[in-house]
Amino acid sequence: MNAALQGSVDEAGLTALAAALAPALREGGVVHLRGDLGAGKTTFARALLRALGVGQRVKSPTYSLIESYQVAERALHHLDLYRIADPGELEWLGLPDLADPAALLLIEWPERGGAALPPPDLIVRLDHAGARRDFSLTAASARGARWVEQHLGGAPRT
Ligand SMILES: Nc1ncnc2c1ncn2[C@@H]1O[C@H](COP(=O)(O)OP(=O)(O)OP(=O)(O)O)[C@@H](O)[C@H]1O
Ligand SMILES: [Mg+2]
Repeated sequence: MNAALQGSVDEAGLTALAAALAPALREGGVVHLRGDLGAGKTTFARALLRALGVGQRVKSPTYSLIESYQVAERALHHLDLYRIADPGELEWLGLPDLADPAALLLIEWPERGGAALPPPDLIVRLDHAGARRDFSLTAASARGARWVEQHLGGAPRT
């Protein structure tokens, strides 16, 4: 599974990247968002959720750990596990719900969730590069590979 896409974007470019990827993610799946504090994980998730039709304000789940939305019967969950001290705390979040294959999970700081988390279909990696961000999208399942391929096929290149 080596479908991958990488590049460098300013904030508008990162938002456009997330919006272009969004249609492919309508079927549900698991996206891990990796990168340091301030790398742009929430910016990316917010743009993705908006493009999927979340009309309300998209708050960062920094304190709540999870923010959930519903669009056309589909559950969208945005998690930020930075504050999790131990993966056992995830049970408190109601992880069984998160196992629904039709749900879309966007997970910041997945490394804090350990093995309790569903495995990713796609890994989004963001790194500071001055005012820009280096990004990579790496497929981690057949589904994720399809998303990256659809994205490569349908989106304007930067
Ligand atoms: N090219 C860029 N892409 C994304 N964000 C950028 C870019 N340039 C500047 N920024 C700024 O960087 C910040 C990114 O913050 P964001 O909350 O998205 O990061 P995060 O990775 O979610 O951090 P945390 O780990 O604290 O949750 C925002 O203030 C945004 O305006
Ligand atoms: Mg964040």
